[in-house]
Parts: sequence; structure tokens; C-alpha cells
Amino acid sequence: MSTLTDLPLQPMQVAIVGATGVVGQMMRRVLEERNFPVTRLIPVASERSAGKSVRFNDDMIPVVTVEEALTLKPDLALFSAGATTSLAWAPAFEEQGAWVIDNSSAFRMETDCALVVPEINPDSISGKRQIIANPNCSTIQMVMALAPLHQAYGIRRIVVSTYQSVSGSGAKGLMQLHTERSSNCRLTENPAYPHRIDMNVIPHCDVFLDNDYTREEMKLHHETRKILRSDSIQVSATAVRVPVSGGHSESVNVTFGQDFDLDEVRRLMASMPGVVVLDNPAQAAYPMPLEAEGKDEVFVGRVRRDFTAENTLNLWVVSDNLRKGAATNAVQIAQWLAENGLLH
Ligand SMILES: NC(=O)c1ccc[n+]([C@@H]2O[C@H](COP(=O)([O-])OP(=O)(O)OC[C@H]3O[C@@H](n4cnc5c(N)ncnc54)[C@H](OP(=O)(O)O)[C@@H]3O)[C@@H](O)[C@H]2O)c1
Repeated sequence: MSTLTDLPLQPMQVAIVGATGVVGQMMRRVLEERNFPVTRLIPVASERSAGKSVRFNDDMIPVVTVEEALTLKPDLALFSAGATTSLAWAPAFEEQGAWVIDNSSAFRMETDCALVVPEINPDSISGKRQIIANPNCSTIQMVMALAPLHQAYGIRRIVVSTYQSVSGSGAKGLMQLHTERSSNCRLTENPAYPHRIDMNVIPHCDVFLDNDYTREEMKLHHETRKILRSDSIQVSATAVRVPVSGGHSESVNVTFGQDFDLDEVRRLMASMPGVVVLDNPAQAAYPMPLEAEGKDEVFVGRVRRDFTAENTLNLWVVSDNLRKGAATNAVQIAQWLAENGLLH
């Protein structure tokens, strides 16, 4: 496992494609918090944002179109504007020499594009392609908790149910929850979800596929195998939207190829950079989205043996989907590139 260092980095021009969205806003904040050496920030959004400015450090910076951003030749482009925009534009930035870190699903399963969680598999960055995919938010937090356990015991199967916040659907999801909560009725005009989300739980994230799973559920299967480099891991997922504004939670049931020791399981997870074990049921101490929101760590609790199945463990995993699930992970990848002399 690698950790990030505090080496001085070369200043660079950074474009954020989707800078007005909830992930883009968080990217600006994380770049600021980490003092990422930005000589010029280029905020990019759709035509709808023409005339708007966004704050970065103490400056208000006008938003530009993706075409304009391309002519400015950034060194780094952080994409968080959906898969269609990434597919249409990320290769053009790559072709003129920029590194692209893409938050959408567009390139995650491309064999030439690395799918990276910096604490787990930065060595999958080969330089063959300069587009690096940021995994899905629900995948990142799950593999952060499971990577050290996979190394120790070998994962065979995971059964995961997610409890995903509305900020995972971007500004539209937040708008629906807040409007319904304040008006106490269902938002009918341009809703993010097919049902009321306030006072409800919706077992439906992203679109349904031919196999009756949703795309979000299948992302957990495919991305976990790619990041943990094991095509024998089986992941059976149920992805659920809950009326929480920020922070995804997951109930994870994991079966290993061999037996484990519970104290060692806690120790292994606690020694993983970026993971905090919060597991004291007697004191009602366990991870919750209200506590995880605004933090970069992945929190794990309710660690217990599944008494109904051999070599099987139950966990509860919570993290801020906008931070480690998106912006923080993306900026950490950029830091890794810079620290390894690839980005300057
Ligand atoms: N939300 C999460 O927790 C999360 C986690 C991981 C990954 N992601 C991924 O991150 C991406 C953004 O998600 P979000 O939650 O931030 O959504 P969002 O709040 O809806 O923001 C979308 C952003 O994309 C911009 N955009 C849309 N169409 C564009 C176009 N044609 N050209 C340039 N910019 C365009 C929007 O600009 P305007 O303001 O002008 O419309 C806005 O800045 C998605 O791919 C999503 O799957 C999200």
C-alpha cells in the first residue's frame, strides 16, 4: 500500500470540467485544502453557466466552455461532468498532453485506463494512457476497507447493500430532497428520482440492466475486481437511495478463502491509510453519515463474524461520497502523479 507524501510539487494549470457541480465544487475545495500548486484554475461548465464565476482561493474566476478550456492547454483536467462529456472531450485533452482524471464511468473498464484508489493500486498507472479513471463512490469506500483483508485472507464473495445519499445524484438529488422536505410533498417537475425521496427509501440507483441489477450495482462487481486485481471475486450488490444529504453507508458481508481472527481484522483495517475503525457498540459508537460528512476518511464499524456462514465477516462502512468517493480520491491521484514526476 502506498501513502502520499508532502514533497514540493511543480505549479500547473488545472481545468475542472464540471466545476459548478457538487463534485466540481468539492474538487476546488480539496485543491485549496491540500495547497495543490495551481498556477491557473480553469473552471468549465455547460452553456447554462455562461456568465457565472466560481470562487477559488480568494479569486472569483469566470467559467468557460470546454472548447475554450482546451485552447488554454491545461496540464491536468479533472472531469466531473458525466460520462457523455468525458467521452466527448477527455481524449482531446489527453491528445494534447494533459493528464485527465475522470470521475465518470466512461473509462473505468477500459483495459488501457487505470482505475485507481491511491492507497491501493497506484502502480496500475502505467502511462500507456493519460486518462485515469476515478472509481465509483460506493466502490471506493468498500475497497478501502476490504483491500487489507483481501491481501491477508483472499476475498471470494461480497454481498453488499448500499444506503446512498442524494448528493450522489448531484445538485438535482439534493434539490429534490430539500424541496420535498420543505414543502412536504413530492417534487414532480424534473425530479432526480422516480419517487418521492424524502421520508422514503428507493431500491434503485442508476438504470436497470438486462440482468435486473442496476448499473450502480454492477459497477460494484466489475470495479472491485479490477482494483483488487482478482477476477474470481464475486460481488452481489443492492444499491439503495436514502433521504440523507451527504455520506454513503454500506452493509458488507464478505466471505474469505480462509478463516480470520477478528482482532487481526480490526488491526489490518486500522493500519490501512485513510481507514478509521469506529467499533464500540457498547458505547453506541459506529460510523454514521452525519459524522462522516466533511471528512476524508472511510469509517468502518459493526465488525462481527457472520455466525451463519464459514469464513465470513459483516462490516458497516461509511464515507463522504463527495470527498473520498470523488474529489479527494481524484486530487490524491493528481498528487501521486505530481510526486512521481509524471505531472508538471
Ligand atoms: N455526486 C457524487 O457523489 C459523485 C461521486 C462520484 C462520481 N460522480 C460523478 O461526477 C460527475 C458529476 O457529478 P455531480 O454529482 O457533480 O453532478 P452535478 O452536480 O449535476 O454537476 C454536473 C456538472 O457537470 C457540468 N456539465 C454538464 N453538462 C456539461 C457539458 N456538456 N459540458 C461541460 N460541463 C457540463 C455541469 O455544468 P452546469 O452547472 O453548467 O450544468 C455541472 O458543473 C458525474 O459523472 C458523476 O457520475 C459523482
